[in-house]
Amino acid sequence: MSRVSLEKMALINRQHAEDGTLELAKNIVEIPASNYYDLDRWNLEIEKIFKRLPLVLGLSKELPNIGDFKALEAVGIPIIIKRNSKGKLNAFLNMCRHRGAAIMKVGFGNSKSFRCPYHGWAYDENGNLIGIADNKNFGDLDKECNGLLKLNVLEKAGIIWVNLDEKTTLSTQDFLSGYDEMLAHFGLEKWHIFDTRMVKGPNWKVAYDGYLDLYHLPVLHSETFGTEISNKAMFYQWGPHQRVISPSRLPDQDDFAGDGKDYTNSPVSEVPTSILMTGVWTIFPHISIASFNAGGRSVLLSQLMPGESPEESFTMQYYLMEKKPNKKQIKEAEEQFKFLEFVVQEEDYATGLRLQKGLKTGKLEKVLFGRNERGGQIFHDWVEKLIKTKNKDLNKLF
Ligand code: FES
Ligand SMILES: [Fe+2]
Repeated sequence: MSRVSLEKMALINRQHAEDGTLELAKNIVEIPASNYYDLDRWNLEIEKIFKRLPLVLGLSKELPNIGDFKALEAVGIPIIIKRNSKGKLNAFLNMCRHRGAAIMKVGFGNSKSFRCPYHGWAYDENGNLIGIADNKNFGDLDKECNGLLKLNVLEKAGIIWVNLDEKTTLSTQDFLSGYDEMLAHFGLEKWHIFDTRMVKGPNWKVAYDGYLDLYHLPVLHSETFGTEISNKAMFYQWGPHQRVISPSRLPDQDDFAGDGKDYTNSPVSEVPTSILMTGVWTIFPHISIASFNAGGRSVLLSQLMPGESPEESFTMQYYLMEKKPNKKQIKEAEEQFKFLEFVVQEEDYATGLRLQKGLKTGKLEKVLFGRNERGGQIFHDWVEKLIKTKNKDLNKLF
């Protein structure tokens, strides 16, 4: 079913490439510049978006074995994601029900159960409270009601979504709007995590605008990606999630097999799925998955998180490779990952940091998204819609 959607998109893209056209938005859209720096606005975004919607907080490949866990903080909320003995993932708030101590330090590990480092209460792999230290003297307490607070977790397409709101009634599946079926074509659960790194960046929306933006590629990245790279983008939508792809990619961008074969004129039914999956797949509100061809087929998966203020964000970059690389490919992948660090830090984020400094002066009232920047228009529209949506109406949006 979803391979059919991939083929349809490929056909639409081909037609636009042939005609030299694009699907354009109706109008140029204005966004208040203060949306990028106003503290109240930013706090609302954290509350209504990051703390209410499912977030991508890990990859299946990070927790491959029974007992594996990952402890992390997301927008200040400490959580644990753990694979239980049945292979199923659980997610909990990393806060002991006794007095709130963090059960595990941030990082990865493997254990059957958890023991709180403060007074020694014990929890099983499903977060149930199974032991109270010196229980006789502590007093009677209903253990059943004092397990770790559980969070909704969904593992699909090799990606792990967690909703930080322990009271949510929003189905992550509904929120994904069928997009997980598309992402499943990567088969990321089988890929290799080649390397990761953290990059500090500007306001989360300044950074996210960049994920959706091919318009800037041959200009800002003229010295890195070159001037031949396309600045045209098609945007395909599943709920708030968008795939961004140029109708005319350069053939060598997609030559994953390294055999020089160009599928531009082959029937779409014969084009390998890997080539139908190129471009940038964004997952609202904070992920981009961009395909590269270095050391074999690979993607840069970027997980963006707001920092401590409207002017700060942190991006976890994962360099993922479809196949285990050989010596030569390891070198190529290393070079590519280094190259992408330069592109993102010195070109994208450096531009973003200067841009937001300018906006903060308050001298520019609005910023603009052109008819060719429909992706940015759709993104800001969703942000606006979510901020205005009351909890009781949230589920109706997806
Ligand atoms: S805070 Fe965890 S046992 Fe006391
Ligand atoms: Fe860029």
